[in-house]
Amino acid sequence: MLTKATPIKISANFHPDERAVLFHGDCLELLKQIPDGSIQLVVTSPPYNIGKEYEKKLNLKQYLEQQSDVIKECVRVLNEKGSICWQVGNYVDNGSIIPLDTVLFPIFHELGLVLRNRIIWHFEHGLHCSRRFSGRYETIIWFTRKSKDYVFNLDPVRVPQKYPAKKYFKGPKKGQYSCNPLGKNPGDVWDIPNVKSNHVEKTEHPCQFPVELIERLVLAMTNENDWVLDPFLGVGTSIIAALRHNRRGAGAETVQRYVEIARERIKKAINGTLKVRPMNKPIYNPDQKRNNLTVAPWSQPNTTPPLLKIRQIIDA
Ligand SMILES: C[S@@+](CC[C@H](N)C(=O)[O-])C[C@H]1O[C@@H](n2cnc3c(N)ncnc32)[C@H](O)[C@@H]1O
Repeated sequence: MLTKATPIKISANFHPDERAVLFHGDCLELLKQIPDGSIQLVVTSPPYNIGKEYEKKLNLKQYLEQQSDVIKECVRVLNEKGSICWQVGNYVDNGSIIPLDTVLFPIFHELGLVLRNRIIWHFEHGLHCSRRFSGRYETIIWFTRKSKDYVFNLDPVRVPQKYPAKKYFKGPKKGQYSCNPLGKNPGDVWDIPNVKSNHVEKTEHPCQFPVELIERLVLAMTNENDWVLDPFLGVGTSIIAALRHNRRGAGAETVQRYVEIARERIKKAINGTLKVRPMNKPIYNPDQKRNNLTVAPWSQPNTTPPLLKIRQIIDA
């Protein structure tokens, strides 16, 4: 972790010796400054083309062409052992949803990258839909180059087992713990609260990453001093996650207000005053907290399904 003694300045342009680069402008302009093969992890959540305040809605073909230009440049700057994580949700067109990972996958595939995981990021907050089930997950598609020699550090991101004290009950290892004492692989379905109203990290950006989501990727896919790049930086989360673990972070953002917020958050991360939700903090559970005001319809006496009522009469 960084300490107050770590001297870090926030630079406006990329240079391999810097530690934090916050570029105000189009990501393609920042990418032009970055030498081939110098980035260990590209992690981003691009605009989803759904008409948010920071984007102009394009037709899907134009959107994919724009994404393709950025992805090509990201592949150029990617290290041989590096990773690209593209975090996306759905494009919604007249009530019809198109999962963006499915239409972006061919772009990465044609550039020779290999999909290593399609991570489901599950969360609880969002719009309540009335004509379909409310969307409560998005995906992170994780690509590397073809070689199997990519960085993947599992130990720093292990999570507690469900039954940590489980032991072998027979055989030569009888009595020994059967699980890895460092914890288990977190799997590819991640339950991490998204940043909405009461989240400690909430800023005025409508869809920022939770820091803990990116920290897991940074710890698993990079080593200390490596570069992490976010071409669609928003309010700086990816740089913050990188700096918190002694990596270098760079990103581009077109909206001046978000650049200002990113700068303030990065400064706080550097001096250790930024509030973040800690990795692996248990998810709030209203039942455990005895704070569940919901009256479940199935517990109402007069909503017993008719067939069950008949069964009850017969049994009586
Ligand atoms: C989904 S948000 C990313 C939020 C970010 N993950 C965070 O934690 O704050 C996408 C961001 O990309 C920015 N953006 C859109 N087009 C861009 C471009 N061509 N270059 C750089 N940033 C761009 C938008 O202003 C928006 O803030």
